[in-house]
Amino acid sequence: MKSTIQDALQSSPLLRASEITKIYHSGTVSHPALRGVSLDVRKGEFVAITGPSGCGKSTLLHILGGLDRPDTGDVQLEGQSISNLDDYSQTLLRRRRMGFVFQKVHLLPMLTAIDNVMVPLRLDGVDFAKARQIAIEALDSVGMSNKHSNRPGELSGGEAQRVAIARAIVMSPAILLADEPTGALDSENGHMVIELFRQLVLTHDQTLIVVTHDLSVAESADRVVKIRDGLIIDDSASATTINKVGSPQAERT
Ligand SMILES: Nc1ncnc2c1ncn2[C@@H]1O[C@H](COP(=O)(O)OP(=O)(O)OP(=O)(O)O)[C@@H](O)[C@H]1O
Ligand SMILES: [Mg+2]
Repeated sequence: MKSTIQDALQSSPLLRASEITKIYHSGTVSHPALRGVSLDVRKGEFVAITGPSGCGKSTLLHILGGLDRPDTGDVQLEGQSISNLDDYSQTLLRRRRMGFVFQKVHLLPMLTAIDNVMVPLRLDGVDFAKARQIAIEALDSVGMSNKHSNRPGELSGGEAQRVAIARAIVMSPAILLADEPTGALDSENGHMVIELFRQLVLTHDQTLIVVTHDLSVAESADRVVKIRDGLIIDDSASATTINKVGSPQAERT
């Protein structure tokens, strides 16, 4: 039987967050950063998370990526709980299945662009020659084929962020998570990063979750999730998302 949009929308999500709560404690003061957040993300979706400063966006992104644990609730990747994994398994899962991009690029200053991009592969035991080849392809895919040997100090902010994106995608992550990736860039470089993200979604079916204050990032996303005071107040899966889930070929060609 031919599958319908409804069927596609009801199929299992790639990532499922269920009733996530997180309370931070500073001395005697408790601050509820997340107060029951549930979110399903499907393969190939480009989701922007927005909201005022302090509303819990980074906290949520860290929990979705296994960088932090919720107090209650659960995050599942491809049907498997990641919130309850032990530290070692969570580290492996982050390295193999998640890619992270932050406002600050966190490149290692003494290593060249290519050596920086090779780090996750080498940590995962990929041999040098193969890691180098994969890193070259990743750098080429972000338009950095002519700066393989530059160290971070010899790169512009936009170039450094592109290297950081190459490092984030080099393990072919299930999900790319970005926290204010354009926050430190001028509008031209910010635009270039957004375009790069769109290309990854369109050509590699990359699933992408971006926390952002940048309206142009949110406008480029398929779906905008708005957070306030630790709760989702709006989740607008746009028509593009529905088309994409229902008819991926039509959307991508
Ligand atoms: N380690 C921490 N200890 C105590 N409180 C924290 C900690 N981290 C975050 N918070 C608090 O939790 C709330 C949510 O923080 P979070 O960093 O998730 O906000 P955000 O939405 O990402 O803000 P911004 O847009 O400014 O980055 C804030 O009130 C913050 O002060
Ligand atoms: Mg933040």
